[in-house]
Amino acid sequence: MLQVQVLDPKGFKALRQKMMLLLKNHQDGRITKQAAIKFKELKSKDLNRSDVAIITCIDEDSRLAGMLACTGYGKDFSLMVVHKSMRGHGIAKDMLNEVVNYLGEFYGIVAVNNIPSLKAIFGSGFVAYDMIVRPSGKVVLKIRKRK
Ligand SMILES: CC(C)(COP(=O)(O)OP(=O)(O)OC[C@H]1O[C@@H](n2cnc3c(N)ncnc32)[C@H](O)[C@@H]1OP(=O)(O)O)[C@@H](O)C(=O)NCCC(=O)NCCS
Repeated sequence: MLQVQVLDPKGFKALRQKMMLLLKNHQDGRITKQAAIKFKELKSKDLNRSDVAIITCIDEDSRLAGMLACTGYGKDFSLMVVHKSMRGHGIAKDMLNEVVNYLGEFYGIVAVNNIPSLKAIFGSGFVAYDMIVRPSGKVVLKIRKRK
C-alpha cells in the first residue's frame, strides 16, 4: 500500500539522500535549478515553520515513490516529483491534497506544456489564477488551492 505522509524534521533527515536521488533522476527537466537549490538548502529545523512542508509517498517495499516540497506555502518555491515507474497512480494528486490539508493553502507554478502535472493539479481541485510569459517565451500558470 502507498503511504502519503508529512515529514517531520527527523523523517527529513532520514529520507534526505533518497529525496535528492529522486529529484536528480526523475524530474524530467521539469524542476528549475532555482527550486532544486532551494530544496538542497532546506534544513530539517525549517520543517517546524508553518509555511514549510515536505510530503512523501512510500511504497510497500519502503521505497520513495514521490515527493513534494515547498516553503512560503509554495510561493517561495515548490517542487513535486514522482518516480517514473510509479506514475499514473494518483500519487501526485494525493500529495497535493495532503499539502493543502496540512498547510491550509498551497501555491505553485506549472508550465502549460506539462500535461501530467496539469492533470494532477486540476484533478486535485486547484485553480489557475494568473499566467506568466517568461523572457524565453515559456508560458507558465500560477495555481493555488485553499482548504
Ligand atoms: C507531474 C508528476 C509529478 C505527476 O505524477 P503522477 O503521480 O503520475 O500524477 P497523477 O497520477 O496524480 O496524475 C497524473 C495525471 O496525468 C495523466 N497523464 C499522464 N501523462 C499524460 C499524457 N501524456 N497525456 C494526458 N494525460 C496524462 C494521468 O492519466 C493522470 O490523470 P488521471 O488521473 O485523470 O487519469 C510526474 O509526472 C513527474 O514527476 N513528472 C516530472 C516532474 C514534474 O513535472 N513535476 C511537476 C513540476 S510542476
